[in-house]
Amino acid sequence: MTGSLVAKLILRRSPLPQSRFILQRGISQQAAERTKDVSAEPPVLPAFDYAPPAYTGPSGDEILAKRKEYLSPSILHFYKSPLNVVEGRRQYLFDENGRRYLDGFGGIATVCCGHGHPDVVAAIVEQTKRLQHSTVLYLNHAVTDFAEALASKLPGNLKVAFFTNSGTEANELAMMIARLYTGCHDIISLRNSYHGNASGTMGATAQSIWKFNVVQSGVHHAVNPDPYRGVFGSDGKKYARDVQEIINFGTSGNVAAFISEAIQGVGGIVELAPGYLPAAYDIVKKAGGLCIADEVQSGFARTGHFWGFETQGVQPDIVTMAKGIGNGIPLGAVVTTPEIAKVLTHRSYFNTFGGNPVCTAAGLAVLKVIEKEKLQENAFVVGSHLKDRLNALKDKYELIGDVRGKGLMLGVELVTDRELKTPAKDETLHVMDQMKELGVLIGKGGYYGNVFRITPPLCFTKEDADFLVDAMDYTLSRM
Ligand SMILES: Cc1ncc(COP(=O)(O)O)c(C=O)c1O
Repeated sequence: MTGSLVAKLILRRSPLPQSRFILQRGISQQAAERTKDVSAEPPVLPAFDYAPPAYTGPSGDEILAKRKEYLSPSILHFYKSPLNVVEGRRQYLFDENGRRYLDGFGGIATVCCGHGHPDVVAAIVEQTKRLQHSTVLYLNHAVTDFAEALASKLPGNLKVAFFTNSGTEANELAMMIARLYTGCHDIISLRNSYHGNASGTMGATAQSIWKFNVVQSGVHHAVNPDPYRGVFGSDGKKYARDVQEIINFGTSGNVAAFISEAIQGVGGIVELAPGYLPAAYDIVKKAGGLCIADEVQSGFARTGHFWGFETQGVQPDIVTMAKGIGNGIPLGAVVTTPEIAKVLTHRSYFNTFGGNPVCTAAGLAVLKVIEKEKLQENAFVVGSHLKDRLNALKDKYELIGDVRGKGLMLGVELVTDRELKTPAKDETLHVMDQMKELGVLIGKGGYYGNVFRITPPLCFTKEDADFLVDAMDYTLSRM
């Protein structure tokens, strides 16, 4: 049987017969009536010409049992019945039974070129065969080729990179650089932000669910310019006044840095109110501080701009990145100006794996794929279509309180009361589970755990977007 024929057969397999679906959820007669305007049949995944070879590894149940025994109990999983993902191709994932799922989460906004992209895989394999590890104590062209290409994507004099293995490491380093450069300790970050989980970055992170009760010094958390839940609505300048207040009343008058995401990812895809960053950057610069843009989630074309900070027309002093930079390979970076970067020469600063040839070869391949396949344009076009369709769903279902985000970094917030904005946490979990049954994987976030995070690979198509929304519509109509 040819691969395409197998794929077509798999496609025809209904993910969950409607009668079983309704029985499983014990859906009421009233709700069943409402489904009349939605297709009676579950939506069907767009066609895809690939079927994976049969999986012969351990089952999900066996893996789960081992996880419970051998992995930290802190490691969570999505879904009541967790998914054993065994293969990925472009925007699709396959489970142990060969069932295909549309990946609407992209390994947490990380897989930007698509799963198993041949160019990225080839770069990794070729470099691994030639030289996997050497450290930057020796010369190798992979790291300099990538650094040069990365610099060409950044504005102004942002051209000097230090490579790390993760976003946390990148933000830790950026915060330290700012402290060394300015001679100040105080840093301002935003409430509801997530910047990592080491000691400095946990301090910058401002959601109690992500903070342990350990020493986290010198970070002040400004009022979040959240257009949906914030007190000043979409007036970015009004929120920025709090940055001045913090400087006036919480510091010596000078600060080391201001760090923020352009769109808060873990915090539930919160776009900063328009005009906020220019105003906040202005205030921070006057207090002698550096502005750090955390592009770990919003970078690498995801928002339809190459960098998230471009959505607010600002130019940071330091940019941190990870996730999408390597399409899934452990890679992070801090990019700044040569003048600022110089502070690290006052002592020795070293990272064993940072800048290793395999990861940087992958990073270069990612940049080339984004350009070659016009993924930034695709994120804008498909993301706009997806957002329009999600907004139409919001008009249909009271449960949807807000739809937001840019490009392929979108959020859908569920509330049980639109006036009070009461978080619909249980409903969020239920919809996620049911969408998985229909063949769509999306993420979840927000302080209250009631926001869908839609951050798929940037090769997502309009048909994929329609399928995702149809699956959400089908699920919501049966609640
Ligand atoms: C905006 C942001 N910054 C930093 C981090 C930390 O990155 P990592 O998990 O690679 O340490 C994350 C992780 O989700 C993030 O979303």
